[in-house]
Amino acid sequence: MNNTSGHFITFEGGDGGGKTTQAAELVGYLRGKGFEVLETLEPGGTQQGEDLRDLLVRGNPERWSPLAELLMMTAARVEHVNRVIRPALAAGKWVICDRFIDSTLVYQGIAGGVDLSFIKQLQELACADSSPPIMPDLTFVLDVRAEKGLERATIRGGAARFEKKGTGFHQKVRDGFLALANESPTRMVVIDAEETFAKVWAQIESAMARHFNL
Ligand code: TMP
Repeated sequence: MNNTSGHFITFEGGDGGGKTTQAAELVGYLRGKGFEVLETLEPGGTQQGEDLRDLLVRGNPERWSPLAELLMMTAARVEHVNRVIRPALAAGKWVICDRFIDSTLVYQGIAGGVDLSFIKQLQELACADSSPPIMPDLTFVLDVRAEKGLERATIRGGAARFEKKGTGFHQKVRDGFLALANESPTRMVVIDAEETFAKVWAQIESAMARHFNL
């Protein structure tokens, strides 16, 4: 959208959808074509973000309220956008980010119950600072049924605090991402993530070819 010379791509979806593996595949694919790529994630991507991630993903589900989560996710994002993402885009790099704003709208808003218009306002503040807002050019939503995703995520280990929020919460997460994708069909591409790794990657590769003429 408004990302000066680089391209900003995000991976979104419920837990256990295979975002991290597919994002790594995309990074390798772009580097293989000779592009400079920054691979990053949220919450995280800076030391400040990693410190907040550590607080957010551990412990019991009630450790933080959705509002407290929103503020911490957004604090991490402010540092990430301004210290890492914006400079990389300005330098003409591809930025591949595992989760971004849509995760906040879904986990803290649609599933967590925090007012969506308040979240949107806060995200504008976090991503605009004094410069044009940073928004993904393209977002892959890796869609998987809640039970299936939780099963995979439990085997893999990881953001255990969010996974412990239960199937009902994760059903809302899945529905939430699909609803957002429905509202932004140009930016957000839904990928059937229950397929094999190769079939999921094939869907991503063809969407990349369509959007960026690769
Ligand atoms: P992940 O890195 O394994 O995807 O774990 C991060 C967890 O944080 C995941 O369960 C989703 C959650 N999350 C939010 O709730 N809101 C956000 O804004 C972001 C970026 C992540």
